[in-house]
Amino acid sequence: MSTHRLYTAPAGDATWDVPMVGDARFTWEYDDGRDKLLALYQKGKDKQWDSVKRIDWDLEVDPYDALGVPDQSMAVYGTKYWDKMGERERREARRHAASWQLSQFVHGEQGAMITGAKIVEIVPDLDAKLYSATQTMDEARHVEIFSRFLHEKIGMVYPINPKLQDLLGETLGDPRWDMPYLGMQVLIEGLALAAFGVIRDITTRPLPKQILTYVMQDEARHVAFGRLTLRDYYAQLSDAERREREDFVIEGCYLMRDRLRGGEIWENFGIPRPEVEEMLAGSPFVRTFQSLLFSRIVPCVKDIGLWSDRIRQAYDDMGVLEMSKGDLEALMRQDEELADRLDVERFAAEETRRRAEVDQVIADAASS
Ligand SMILES: [Fe+2]
Ligand SMILES: [Fe+2]
Repeated sequence: MSTHRLYTAPAGDATWDVPMVGDARFTWEYDDGRDKLLALYQKGKDKQWDSVKRIDWDLEVDPYDALGVPDQSMAVYGTKYWDKMGERERREARRHAASWQLSQFVHGEQGAMITGAKIVEIVPDLDAKLYSATQTMDEARHVEIFSRFLHEKIGMVYPINPKLQDLLGETLGDPRWDMPYLGMQVLIEGLALAAFGVIRDITTRPLPKQILTYVMQDEARHVAFGRLTLRDYYAQLSDAERREREDFVIEGCYLMRDRLRGGEIWENFGIPRPEVEEMLAGSPFVRTFQSLLFSRIVPCVKDIGLWSDRIRQAYDDMGVLEMSKGDLEALMRQDEELADRLDVERFAAEETRRRAEVDQVIADAASS
């Protein structure tokens, strides 16, 4: 079924065209890779997987409670609007909230796929081109997964949030080769990774848990890629050049914190915009969630060397400066371990089921 039939509001023209900027660069140096980046490329190749086979798409999902997260996670919870809703409308609210979240994921993943391809073109070094080619394939898989979940399990899709779209446009519309990294790998992917993590850890449904666990296993590599490349490059920039990158980060972070909170959902329930804003500001879950979203970005920004007083001040103002102490390596290892462990558990469960089937066949044969 065409996705356009599932959108909650018209999603615009058939395509959104961002003009190409920057050069497509060839390099003639084929033997000058950085060890860490080449190791990451090897890992990217080793860890490819097929979502059709690895994910158990037969698992049932209630479209009206697809993520199985607490109602407190919705900004409307505990307001007069929530009190007025009957169970049917509350189920509808859960469906919209899950659809909005996953729709932003699928649009973001498409952005990541396009950015991955752009980095292949624009980045000067071969090791980074090679790695980004594997990431582009990872992101294609993620687009496939989230769009399948939305189509088959929820049956409702939200258009891209306008601010996420602006940020994608800026990221892709800049001719400097490091800007796709900064906008996508550091900001958008950092944000998405944190959101995936929160939902992976609180969902009570096995299908979204599988999806997020396996997607995060890939994403951990992507953040590492951004860090490795930008850390080297930003060390060579002039103060003025570094300042421009910092401005971009600060503006992007405020934008994501204040304008990427799902206000669109509640307008669809007839709640006027000013009240929606009030609801969002007053919801303890939304506030906590919005600051958790920075748990991967802040340590990464510090790590790549954009750590001036201005940046620190901005994060202090947002109440997320403490997050700079986060250990990205440890988080990445944990994301990978969780995926490996899930594989082992699922394999063991499958073994038990298969053995029980065999035992049953033997028992039936013995008794006949
Ligand atoms: Fe992704
Ligand atoms: Fe990614």
